[in-house]
Amino acid sequence: MKALVYDKNSKSKISLCEKENPKIIDPKDAIVEVTLSSICTSDLHIINGMVPRANNNIILGHEFVGKIVEIGSDIKNLKVGDRVSANCETFCGECYFCKKGYINNCKKGGWELGCRIDGCQAQYVRVPFAEMGLTKIPDNVSDRNALFVGDILSSGYFGAEMCEIKPDDTIAVIGSGPVGMCSMICAKILGAKTIIAIDINEKRLNIAKENNLADYYLNPKTCDIEKEIKAITKNKGADGVIEAAGFSNYKNTQANHNFTPSKPYDWENDSTLELAWKIARPNAIIGVVAMYEENQVLPLPLMYGKNLTFKTGGVDAIHCEKLLKLISEGKINTDFLITQTFKLENILEAYELFKTQKDNCLKIAIEE
Ligand SMILES: NC(=O)c1ccc[n+]([C@@H]2O[C@H](COP(=O)([O-])OP(=O)(O)OC[C@H]3O[C@@H](n4cnc5c(N)ncnc54)[C@H](O)[C@@H]3O)[C@@H](O)[C@H]2O)c1
Ligand SMILES: [Zn+2]
Ligand SMILES: [Zn+2]
Repeated sequence: MKALVYDKNSKSKISLCEKENPKIIDPKDAIVEVTLSSICTSDLHIINGMVPRANNNIILGHEFVGKIVEIGSDIKNLKVGDRVSANCETFCGECYFCKKGYINNCKKGGWELGCRIDGCQAQYVRVPFAEMGLTKIPDNVSDRNALFVGDILSSGYFGAEMCEIKPDDTIAVIGSGPVGMCSMICAKILGAKTIIAIDINEKRLNIAKENNLADYYLNPKTCDIEKEIKAITKNKGADGVIEAAGFSNYKNTQANHNFTPSKPYDWENDSTLELAWKIARPNAIIGVVAMYEENQVLPLPLMYGKNLTFKTGGVDAIHCEKLLKLISEGKINTDFLITQTFKLENILEAYELFKTQKDNCLKIAIEE
């Protein structure tokens, strides 16, 4: 079969190769024929060498839908022919962390697909613990409707959930990329009264606006972002901030980065984590969904009395069934995120486009 393989020692880091079809190796496995997959910013982090857990020579990809073509003998709730959406995480459902819902830290799994074991940017993929990680897609939900359920939509939900949203809350979302937009959708679902979308890319803010994802659309390039947020929140600051941008430039600026309290946010040099704690009100929660490529600095003495809560991490994608139901009921629609579609044989071109974000590229659907 055709597959997109990561090779950290090659110049291009990725290539389209012929690989053997995957086989069932455990009774809890299923083999899925991938009908649609996507490329995630986290795939780019692997290619950039920024994911220490990633194994070399694996097939990339962890965001997909498909059809089950083979199941292991232990699987009861799925059958050959089922159309399924896949969780980006592999989890046993039985260990201490799984029982608490912290599936990203499953003792036997976590982010495995397309990171530690072969992923979905291929014609077929083996999914371990398939009963846990595959969710049947309702009949009225198409493959395209369901494509993002197991990764970026779950991540958006995770970010919104981290903020413990109360009905009157104003939630600021930094980054109006695919994950940030999913966070806006989910913050609304979880009851936020006011949503503020923030991005330096005006086109992306416009896409969020066209889809009515927020109440305010702010570009730190063209406004004093802290002042604007103060004006919107009557001087209080945001009740919750979802950090879905993940930008920092410490390599160039750390030497003179002294966090002067009065210095306004500088979008070209300051980390978006810095923006997050600056626009948060005292006692706010900051949900960090973004994955940074550098260590981050928190000036704790400066923010001492602000009493902030930071929550971070890889998504615990435990709401796939609920999200599919919301899609089925017409309450969530992420179709607008698919800006281009490519055949698997042209996936290298798709990577190039995704990386450069040309042609307003948000997410690419890769089809067989
Ligand atoms: N936690 C998880 O499990 C999980 C899952 C999926 C993705 N992610 C991470 O979430 C992050 C976002 O993913 P994405 O696919 O939406 O990425 P993306 O790169 O498409 O979007 C990031 C957005 O941030 C904006 N941005 C950059 N610098 C900015 C600044 N200074 N101020 C305001 N906005 C700025 C960019 O213009 C862009 O639109 C990535 O780091 C990705 O790896 C995490
Ligand atoms: Zn991902
Ligand atoms: Zn587990």
